[in-house]
Amino acid sequence: MMMSRAATRAARSMGMVAPRYFSAATTAAAAALLRSNEAAAFKLLNRVSHVSGGSTHVPGMVAGFIRFPVRHMSTAALHDTSEDKEVKKEKKAETGSAGGSGGADDKAVVSYWGVQPKKIMKEDGTEWGWSCFMPWETYKADMSIDLGKHHAPKTLMDKMAYWTVKALRLPTDIFFQRRYGCRAMMLETVAAVPGMVGGMLLHCKSLRKFEQSGGWIKALLEEAENERMHLMTFMEVVNPRWYERALVFTVQGVFFNAYFLTYIISPKLAHRVVGYLEEEAIHSYTEFLKEIDNGNIENVPAPAIAIDYWRLAKDSTLRDVVMVIRADEAHHRDVNHFASDIHCQGRELKEASAPVGYH
Ligand SMILES: [Fe+2]
Ligand SMILES: [Fe+2]
Repeated sequence: MMMSRAATRAARSMGMVAPRYFSAATTAAAAALLRSNEAAAFKLLNRVSHVSGGSTHVPGMVAGFIRFPVRHMSTAALHDTSEDKEVKKEKKAETGSAGGSGGADDKAVVSYWGVQPKKIMKEDGTEWGWSCFMPWETYKADMSIDLGKHHAPKTLMDKMAYWTVKALRLPTDIFFQRRYGCRAMMLETVAAVPGMVGGMLLHCKSLRKFEQSGGWIKALLEEAENERMHLMTFMEVVNPRWYERALVFTVQGVFFNAYFLTYIISPKLAHRVVGYLEEEAIHSYTEFLKEIDNGNIENVPAPAIAIDYWRLAKDSTLRDVVMVIRADEAHHRDVNHFASDIHCQGRELKEASAPVGYH
């Protein structure tokens, strides 16, 4: 039986991915009740499907629903209101969520399709609780990397890239001043865009030209993912205000399109801009560390997500986290300047093996 659009939306809100199997009446009743009590919903769903002449698939489908936990975040943000903290505390007590072991009832979803996440175990034999990244994606940051390396702008293109980044830094300095937590949060929302755009465009090029990318698609997507994990980490220690969220929204809209066009017109310029952005990121994180050392920013315990992602010691602090993130930025700097150099030598990226797994 076909169903209305409203009913389709209700079915989707329940997490059902086969909404057209349901009648509108069945779906609306089930959506309301599943939220409050699954057992009651199950009984009613059986009854409604018979009364309304709804699909005979319904009881069987509900019986096939599987609940599985989803874990996204770890510890409370620094600047939460006391009410927020109280709610999170209660949630944490219910789920026992510290240390990456997700609670069974934390944001469960239902699935008709029988798709179940695999049970992943950690090296110490305990269950892996994160759904947003896997144990094989974790790593130890290379702290020996040279943080002071700088690509001196010589050509016109280099100078354009350099001064574009310097010009972008000015409004950032004015807006955030010494609020380095919020500044880092904003920086990461921007920094995670180029890798995804570059990776996507190389992916399309690979398809279009029937050729390999030399691993660069993967390398750039890895960079995007790594930057996004920086953001997920900062979201644990910074609570952005509404106007900062609005700013991120706007900046992303502009930056995504600007970078997309730049990469199409001149990939060497695009990578050079990112190289300089990463140099600025290293500078920002160095200032961040100074603020922590001066006592202007509290050196709180490291979020659980950071401890697991960078394989940090359990007693690590925010300072340790900023150190590893800064090392990551230095790697991104090297990768992007390298990519630009390849283009500047009249070669294509696929001619030089990409630094895959090089965070
Ligand atoms: Fe980053
Ligand atoms: Fe970066």
